[in-house]
Amino acid sequence: MRYSEKALKVKESSTLAITAKAKAMKAAGENVISFSIGEPDFDTPAHIVEAAKKALESGFTKYTDSSGILKLREAICAKLKKDNGLDYEPSQIVVSNGAKHAIANVCAAVLNPGDEVIIPAPYWLTYPEVVALAGGVPVIIKTDKANSYKATAKQIEAAVTPKTKALFINSPNNPSGSVYSENELRAIADVVIKHDLLIIADEIYEKLIYDPSSPHVSIASFSKDIYDRAVVINGLSKSYAMTGWRMGYTASPKELAKIIGNIQSHQTSNINSITQMASIAAMNGDQGCVENMRKEFAKRRDYMVERISAIKGFDMAPPAGAFYAFIDVSALFGNSKALKVTDAADFAAELISKKGVAIVPCADFGCDDFIRLSYAMAMDEIKEGMDRIETFVKENW
Ligand SMILES: Cc1ncc(COP(=O)(O)O)c(C=O)c1O
Repeated sequence: MRYSEKALKVKESSTLAITAKAKAMKAAGENVISFSIGEPDFDTPAHIVEAAKKALESGFTKYTDSSGILKLREAICAKLKKDNGLDYEPSQIVVSNGAKHAIANVCAAVLNPGDEVIIPAPYWLTYPEVVALAGGVPVIIKTDKANSYKATAKQIEAAVTPKTKALFINSPNNPSGSVYSENELRAIADVVIKHDLLIIADEIYEKLIYDPSSPHVSIASFSKDIYDRAVVINGLSKSYAMTGWRMGYTASPKELAKIIGNIQSHQTSNINSITQMASIAAMNGDQGCVENMRKEFAKRRDYMVERISAIKGFDMAPPAGAFYAFIDVSALFGNSKALKVTDAADFAAELISKKGVAIVPCADFGCDDFIRLSYAMAMDEIKEGMDRIETFVKENW
């Protein structure tokens, strides 16, 4: 069989692979602590689960409008207005199977072969894969600690060519936790408008911000010029502990929403009807559950920052949002007393084999020297895991 050349270039998701490995080791009775998981450990709030039960019991189990039922798209428009100051109509919203699917839909809708898409590194590992799968060419920009691993408008402009079609901005960022300020986003918006690009704004971690001096701002909200060139990506996975329910969405100009909707109507149709009812309850209900989870993440984040800062050879910019610590471990390469560690992948492999701690090496996030530790797990596990990591470094360097 000769497989699709585009498909053969798609890499396995390394985060899902590491998570699966840690789960398998746990299932085999090994004492593994996993910092690899990119999902909240909390249960989905009870009122959301109740709405799903009600949907099932009332027989809301049939096909729906492929882009999502009107009531849900109205709830999304109300959220975008209230939280982000954005005016969208339901016809501009397409509800998809998670933000991941929403992003893939956008790439399928806008990219022609050879179109370039600028992606600042560190990036969520799915971006370059879905760009390439849609025939586009990912163009990676490097960032540095001095700017908290954020791309500047100047760097973005320097990467623009006649083939540039779009730019990804993910704020708060996975894996760095960095949050772009309003001024930074305004400068980026100017570049997007000047070169007539599309901005794909992934705002999935919007509700998880710990630094009050870095509030979330949607780039699409600045002017009509940027709104017309923006696709806002969001979803319920991270802020409502709903990763398994699969709900994400795009908010975009009407013409693009129609094309995205057409693609989805032939590929997956509507997302699960029960999830749609649960999502309405999540979005229209009391938002206290979101804030309670954020507060718990904030405690864990502070603890992580304290522990990581005390480990010799670990270097990081404290995360302002999301639930990851992004750590430069290059100071440990090539100088271990006992181990052969020449990159972050070696570090991760030795750590899981010697101490049973799973972490994510960030080569697939565009940063070879870094590891990512998720703190979306219970505090006692975080403590035990950090003890093991600290001991591992002390014993071997
Ligand atoms: C930056 C970012 N965007 C999008 C997603 C996709 O989330 P979902 O498909 O669960 O909505 C993730 C999940 O890890 C993410 O980290």
